[in-house]
Amino acid sequence: MKIDSQKLVRAAAQARKEAVAPYSRFKVGAALLARSGEIISGANVESASYGLTCCAERVALFKALTGGKRDFIAAAVVARAPGGPMPCGACRQLLAEYAPDAVILVADSRHLKKIRKFTVRQLLPRAFVIVP
Ligand code: THU
Repeated sequence: MKIDSQKLVRAAAQARKEAVAPYSRFKVGAALLARSGEIISGANVESASYGLTCCAERVALFKALTGGKRDFIAAAVVARAPGGPMPCGACRQLLAEYAPDAVILVADSRHLKKIRKFTVRQLLPRAFVIVP
């Protein structure tokens, strides 16, 4: 399936509007593209107990997985950050486990057409896995 990068980045930018980030005020949106063509999005949710915060990437991933979706071919992440926000280490681990073949698209919310692309393996080489 052909990946429409701009469409996925726009979906992440749209999801970003639903971010709940009263503490950092740093809003992040993420969107996953399943091989079926379905897009599942999410945004970061913060807690007064800061460490409980969940990143946009993980919110989108948990929504998708618990909605029965698998086999992701791309993920977009958007925030107001120069060059776009790079996924944090925890999200890289989850992406390596559940979306290892996805291309990761990163964009600044002010320049949605400037898209940087990474593979999950570039972001997290030699990820932790448990081989059954
Ligand atoms: N955040 C994300 O949603 N994704 C990332 O990849 C990095 C950070 C969120 C977590 C927190 O709500 C805010 O950005 C500031 O760290």
